[in-house]
Amino acid sequence: MERRPFGTTGMELPEICFGTMRYAAKTPGDDAPSRAGQRALEEALDLGIDFVHSSYEYGTRWMTGKVLAGHPHRDRVRHAIKVNVPDWGEPKFDPAAFRRQVEDALRDLHADRIDVVQHLQRGGIERLLGYDDRAEPQRVADLDAVLEPLREVAQRLRDEGLIGALTTFPYTVGYARAAIASGAFDGIVAYFNLLETEMVEVFDLMRDQGMGFIGIRPLMGGLLTDARIDRAALPPGDRMHDAGWDRAYDHLAAARAIVDPEVGEGGTARSWTSYALKFSLIDPLIASTVVSINTPEQLLEVVAALEGARPDPALLPRLHEVTARFRAEHGVRADGAGVPQYER
Ligand SMILES: NC(=O)c1ccc[n+]([C@@H]2O[C@H](COP(=O)([O-])OP(=O)(O)OC[C@H]3O[C@@H](n4cnc5c(N)ncnc54)[C@H](OP(=O)(O)O)[C@@H]3O)[C@@H](O)[C@H]2O)c1
Repeated sequence: MERRPFGTTGMELPEICFGTMRYAAKTPGDDAPSRAGQRALEEALDLGIDFVHSSYEYGTRWMTGKVLAGHPHRDRVRHAIKVNVPDWGEPKFDPAAFRRQVEDALRDLHADRIDVVQHLQRGGIERLLGYDDRAEPQRVADLDAVLEPLREVAQRLRDEGLIGALTTFPYTVGYARAAIASGAFDGIVAYFNLLETEMVEVFDLMRDQGMGFIGIRPLMGGLLTDARIDRAALPPGDRMHDAGWDRAYDHLAAARAIVDPEVGEGGTARSWTSYALKFSLIDPLIASTVVSINTPEQLLEVVAALEGARPDPALLPRLHEVTARFRAEHGVRADGAGVPQYER
């Protein structure tokens, strides 16, 4: 597995980060999907995918802890975790809550250090407005009050050797700009795939400051795969029949004029799954992409998908033009549509 620098942190991360949101049941048990997920993580570690993204919200840390507890490479594994302080509806930043979330993760993951803390400043806004540009001014204004105690608690945890890089999950580009300008963060962790190219708008600013970037959901939750690219052919009961995915499929239709020639005979990749994964690493600023890998079969496909030619970086601004036009015409999830489905 190729590794890439994460900004100027000195960390080299594997191109693929193992995302744990969907790979095991939320309740500890011995069901077949959890067993497949367990094998996927064990085999991923053997293949050099030693970077794991988790959150207490996913309910799957029991499995990650089970795999890592006695694992011979436990010390080599790098962890990225979400730390949500203040969480939705909470009025202000609480350093004790921040520390508690880090310490809980260290215990549950049998880890000595969290290498990438991904801070999410939610706060006194409704959950569904998180991604909405209308909520941005309030979140940016609140950032001022969050920064000082955040820096303080992060520095203390760093001094204790418990955490490495401090990053932010900005939700919107405007918040990302404010976070970059603050100088408080080593990097940004955000959605990045063929249909979610927004963060390219701050890539140069990040480069100038030596910050690193980690992308999330390269397959757009599974939509950008051969199995789901054609919505009409989805099997009954597939989660992407849900109306929450209508916009994403409309957006895909707008992007296909650019992407179709890239996929298949004579293109950059032989399959949609492969192209989407390669695209998610299109810029050298992107250190790693966090993908949910739920079975050993998906793992092998993900690893094979990265072989061969990579997309021309000139495609990124072209795809982003489509994204920007789509956003302008349809709003940025202005009604919150799709958010819950995308995240679970
Ligand atoms: N705010 C945040 O920080 C945040 C939010 C969301 C997610 N995340 C992280 O990002 C990770 C990825 O998110 P995501 O699951 O929404 O998006 P994703 O990685 O783009 O999509 C993953 C889905 O694609 C399908 N898939 C995986 N490998 C495949 C393959 N080889 N062939 C065909 N289909 C394949 C699987 O769905 P099926 O098994 O159903 O086919 C899988 O669940 C999560 O695990 C989590 O760690 C972070």
